[in-house]
Amino acid sequence: MITKNLAVLFSGNGSNLENLYLKLHNKVFDNCKIDFKIAISSRKNAYGITRCENIGLKCEVLSSKDNKENYDLKLLDILSPYNIDLVVLAGFMRVLSDRFIDAYTTINIHPSILPLFKGANAIVESYQSNMKVAGVSVHYVSSELDSGELIDQDTIKKIDGEELESFKNRIHNLEYEIYPKAILKVLL
Ligand code: GRF
Repeated sequence: MITKNLAVLFSGNGSNLENLYLKLHNKVFDNCKIDFKIAISSRKNAYGITRCENIGLKCEVLSSKDNKENYDLKLLDILSPYNIDLVVLAGFMRVLSDRFIDAYTTINIHPSILPLFKGANAIVESYQSNMKVAGVSVHYVSSELDSGELIDQDTIKKIDGEELESFKNRIHNLEYEIYPKAILKVLL
């Protein structure tokens, strides 16, 4: 059996982080065990830190004052002892440097059908658009925001008159389905 070591970077609520951990950590898929080694939060007040405590995932805080290059050097330092095979972004609100991306295969989930609605306001923009479908994308991370090669996408139908909160919930539920599968697709 082989083991794949994962790290998660996040900045906020951490619901994807928790979902990934519960679905994948310490589980074996095709003779490959998934081991979440560490989570890193870029914000000291992120609720995801509490989730890490609750589920028993080691978490470090590296807050965001540095410029990109210095920040990423510190990230690399934190990750270096763990022999990480894949870095998973789950609501990580920073753009990573080439140096980081060259060091680690890194993937991200974005709550829209990329290349539509890049950036932090994707769910609302997608909700307000005249499109009949919405969705989520998992992609490799490149140095340009929400732009790396796609790994997987899935969609939901818009419902006439649906409230934003309900739409958001459906998008998040789709994320919880697609992200674990996309990680396995990358690793196996
Ligand atoms: C998710 O919608 C994800 O697609 C985006 O940031 C959000 C993170 O949510 N990149 P959470 O922190 O996992 O709850």
